[in-house]
Amino acid sequence: MDYAIETAPLETVQCDCLIVGVYQDRQLCASASLINDSTQGLISKILNRGDISGKNGETVLINAVPDSAIERILLVGLGENKALSGKNYRKALLAAISSLKKKPIKSVVCSLAECEVSDADRSWKTRQIIEVFSDAAYQFTTCKSNKETDSKIEKISITSPVAELELAQTGLIQGKAIADGINLTKLLSDLPGNICTPTYLAEQALELGKQYLSLDISILEEADMEKLGMGALLSVSRGSRQPAKLIALSYQGGEKNSKPIVLIGKGLTFDAGGISLKQAPGMDEMKYDMCGGAAVLGTMLAAAQMQLPLNIIGLIPSSENMPDGDANKPGDILTSMSGKTIEVLNTDAEGRLLLCDTLTYAERYNPDVVIDLATLTGACLVALGRVPSGLLGNNDALCNDLLAASVTANDSLWRLPLWEEYQEQLKSNFADLANVGGKDAGTITAACFLSQFAENFHWAHLDIAGTAWRTGSNKGATGRPVPLLSQYLINRAYG
Ligand code: BES
Ligand code: MN
Ligand code: ZN
Repeated sequence: MDYAIETAPLETVQCDCLIVGVYQDRQLCASASLINDSTQGLISKILNRGDISGKNGETVLINAVPDSAIERILLVGLGENKALSGKNYRKALLAAISSLKKKPIKSVVCSLAECEVSDADRSWKTRQIIEVFSDAAYQFTTCKSNKETDSKIEKISITSPVAELELAQTGLIQGKAIADGINLTKLLSDLPGNICTPTYLAEQALELGKQYLSLDISILEEADMEKLGMGALLSVSRGSRQPAKLIALSYQGGEKNSKPIVLIGKGLTFDAGGISLKQAPGMDEMKYDMCGGAAVLGTMLAAAQMQLPLNIIGLIPSSENMPDGDANKPGDILTSMSGKTIEVLNTDAEGRLLLCDTLTYAERYNPDVVIDLATLTGACLVALGRVPSGLLGNNDALCNDLLAASVTANDSLWRLPLWEEYQEQLKSNFADLANVGGKDAGTITAACFLSQFAENFHWAHLDIAGTAWRTGSNKGATGRPVPLLSQYLINRAYG
């Protein structure tokens, strides 16, 4: 889909469909009012007929507009005539784009960036239009014979007065970059484990490096990791026919000496649980155990496309977790790259084994902050459901920055405590620490485990087990937390 800013007056605009807003009690947005005047009260007529009341999320498609270069008009209900909340704004946008699916509409002009939204400027509103529309248009067709998608839209123009063109352009650039990042993340995440292997992920990273010359990609092979002493990471891939990869992406948009922001994403391309085998129901969803890694790729794409003046490193430890004669066994003791020994009490707690060696590896970048993102614990779903991602960390300023970004990006987070008392649960009789901490507070003890490998830098951990994909009939990747991380980076660059 192609996005652009339209500054021409509406009277001169030509398109298959114009989207305009109406408020409750038959009040019109500026563009709706303008078009109403130039069509002899067509919109008022429809409102008076009672076809739409203006409640948030209602839509009516007027599919014939006499004597006009605008073929159709989509009326979108916005709710009460006052500044909308960010959430209601997105709700109205989603309703608008959803109602245009399966229609022969190729070119759309959207005027909804003119509505007032609390604490939002035109840049934010423009960006949200692109993010919501692009999210709704995404459909996974790679493995279907019929590649046709429900949305036929090719071009979306977002209106802006000339006076606000600069803000609109910023929104356009950010919106396109973030939408592209989300798209890549969703596509990689939705791919099945037999296609999207660690090797495939590494190839996709190299592809990205060809597309964006500002991204430098290097791939660490098992032999390299062996030399580094990554005994925890390699113990997981030993049980799989697929070799592990540690994918490293480097983006140097900042000053030479400025410390990098390091993003680490769990890239388990399939998690069967290993010898502590998972149950059969829902096991297909463990192809999504690489969503953290995919989101790092998506965020790096967005950062490169926005040409952010920052230094950013992306690290993606990637492997499968399978049962095998050579797989980890409960009771096995590993030596991690840090030197700490780990007793594997449950081979299904494999994510932290990959992440702990990657955290140690991150030290060599002398990071400003390290943020890891991982579909790490089912317990996170129990605690927080599928609404916010879990946030834990060893630095309040970093956690607060992430919380602030999550509000702006509409990609919510909730912080959980990482208190000393919980570390007790990881005690092992035979090694420095155990890889699981019992049934209580599973998300917190997983983060406690990681924290023992993040002692030398400011670090935050995002548990995205509940937010990276939807389950049920609408199963599919969400692309989260690419919006949150992109916003965090934007704030770091310009805030
Ligand atoms: N990838 C899973 C976590 C997960 C489970 C994400 C369900 C989304 C939905 C992770 O590797 C795992 O298996 N974690 C175990 C940890 C346990 C053994 C301490 C879990 O959550 O059951
Ligand atoms: Mn697991
Ligand atoms: Zn896992």
